Amino acid sequence: MKRYKRILVTSALPYANGPIHLGHLAGAYLPADVYVRYQRMQKRDVIYICGSDEHGVPITIAAEKQGVSPQNIVDEYHQRNLDAFDRFGMSFDYYGRTSSLVHHKTSQDFFKQLDQKGIFNKKTEKQLYDKTIKMFLPDRYVKGTCPVCSYTEAYGDQCEKCGSSLSVADLKNPKSVLTGQEPELKETEHWFLPLGELQHKIENWLKDKKNWKPNVIGQVRSWLDAGLSDRAVTRDLNWGVPVPHPDAKGKVLYVWFDAPIGYISATKEWAAEKGKPELWKTYWQDEETQLVHFIGKDNIVFHCIMFPAMLMTYGKFILPDNVPANEFLNLEGDKLSTSRNYAVWLEDYLEKFDPDLLRYYLTINAPETKDSDFTWKEFQQRNNGELADILGNFINRTLTFARKRFDNKVPAKGELNQTDQAMIDELRKAPTLLGTSIEHFELRKAASALMNVARMANKYFNDKEPWKTVKEDPEQCATTLHICLQAVQSLAILMEPILPFSAQNVWQMLGHKDDIHDHAWEEASELALPVGQTFGEIDILFRKIEDEKIEPEILRLQKSKPMSTEEEKPETERVTIEDLAKIQLKVATVLQAEKIEKADKLLKLQIQIGDETRQLVAGIAKHYVPQELVGKKIIVVANLQPAKIRGIESNGMLLAAEDEQGAFSLLTVDRDVDTHASIR
Ligand code: 2FM
Ligand code: ZN
Repeated sequence: MKRYKRILVTSALPYANGPIHLGHLAGAYLPADVYVRYQRMQKRDVIYICGSDEHGVPITIAAEKQGVSPQNIVDEYHQRNLDAFDRFGMSFDYYGRTSSLVHHKTSQDFFKQLDQKGIFNKKTEKQLYDKTIKMFLPDRYVKGTCPVCSYTEAYGDQCEKCGSSLSVADLKNPKSVLTGQEPELKETEHWFLPLGELQHKIENWLKDKKNWKPNVIGQVRSWLDAGLSDRAVTRDLNWGVPVPHPDAKGKVLYVWFDAPIGYISATKEWAAEKGKPELWKTYWQDEETQLVHFIGKDNIVFHCIMFPAMLMTYGKFILPDNVPANEFLNLEGDKLSTSRNYAVWLEDYLEKFDPDLLRYYLTINAPETKDSDFTWKEFQQRNNGELADILGNFINRTLTFARKRFDNKVPAKGELNQTDQAMIDELRKAPTLLGTSIEHFELRKAASALMNVARMANKYFNDKEPWKTVKEDPEQCATTLHICLQAVQSLAILMEPILPFSAQNVWQMLGHKDDIHDHAWEEASELALPVGQTFGEIDILFRKIEDEKIEPEILRLQKSKPMSTEEEKPETERVTIEDLAKIQLKVATVLQAEKIEKADKLLKLQIQIGDETRQLVAGIAKHYVPQELVGKKIIVVANLQPAKIRGIESNGMLLAAEDEQGAFSLLTVDRDVDTHASIR
């Protein structure tokens, strides 16, 4: 991979017409922030630019709906989104807005330059016009029937049902969203970016982008294969950047022309604030800059085709080195929908939970190569079973042990045995392992690798049994704790990109007075924590989330879940016989059953499947007493990955039925078959 001199990272400018939700975060924001934080810890020259997209029809429609001016809407959401991002730990170097004067000038200059170079085609076309209010109806001002899937509520620029990108003229039975009237056709003149003529140039540039994500290449390829067509870059509207041309009265730049230029304007404003007004050029016009756009998949065509075409034809500008677009995040099995309030809003989330928990879950479950699903249950499980039980547990047990047994200080290490050396070797390798994944935009992998370091550290602690050696061999105990504390320090550094708040917390618990950002990524591979350093205040890093805390969230979503899921997901949801063959169902006899201390819902069972005896943990203690289970023949999923439930190994899962009234029954066989029986 080419190493550039500096890096310019952008995240899609969110429309300032509504609050940020988890889909936004998972797609374009969190991955960029992780990437940038990592690059900063590598001490590379990197800036991270974002801001509000304050133009376009979504904004004017929101304003009309609420009966206020567009300016009102964007002022409110610009501030709210900026605040929420800040509380979520987004570390933008600059968060601009496209209503700024610098932006208006920059995008007008762009238009003028392309116009003077003769790039645009000017065409007179018939467009939909609402004669009651004397207004042309671009994009979302028209609704009608989608020509692709026949959905009757498709917008003029896109069908939300099938995802097709449309233009107003494609809609059947168009209606004005403002008056409900059927629009008429009226002639108007617009400026077009001739993507058709530029296709060859674009293809040439894209051909060596071999390291781009397959989902991005795939989408770009299909646009190119279909053949690019010219795109109008002007609109008949009164909200936006006025088109700087004497013949363009009443016209503004198309929002997808001005918004990406917003990245440039924001960089100019950033440079001016630093007192180096020319510095933006180094980031946008020097070939030694790596430009990376983080976006969601619905923005691919604009960032991989249209904006590059604008940059190329303007001249002087660099082009994106990579566009690691993510797929979509679904919510509890359904598509997010802001209009139905079927979403989790960042502001609401932050009222109830810490930012790092969400940062972790959205990273380890990122829609990197395909859509992924957010569920509150999995959020809770990842927090309780991974952040709290593995990462937090290791850090807390190490610090509390050292506080008690080593006078609240880092002990010196003595002679190392093989186990010690192996742990040190793991720490040495970890920064490169995680770093390589992040540099390849494989953030799920990076999050797993981070958790694995904590897993290994826990195992090391267990294997070395310091609670025994503290009496039998104090020097070995000191060595163990010394190495565990070094691992805590390494983990803090490795946590920083994904879990920045917790990383700084751990840093202070270790007794450091400075900021973790004053340190470098590579320090995670060294044993850099000084012997004798006194710890700071030690507190539990991640607390468990109780069921009661997430139940209201699940309920709220259930109420706004899309109706008739059956209807919306016909045949496609069925599984094939091959899918079914993956699941091995077996008849098992219960040999033993017993209660589990402090877990009033769980029972531990010993079962027999064929000649094999296994243990499994089942959540049936509220429904069955242990004695009545012994001898029963039950049905189990035999090839489920083994898991630990409350620290107890569970190898398989039994099947049971429960109705809405809470009646509960184990699945069993209704004639006597033995446990070698196969289930078909
Ligand atoms: O899809 C959106 O939310 C757009 N506002 C993204 C704009 S990205 C960039 F070009 F500004
Ligand atoms: Zn459609």
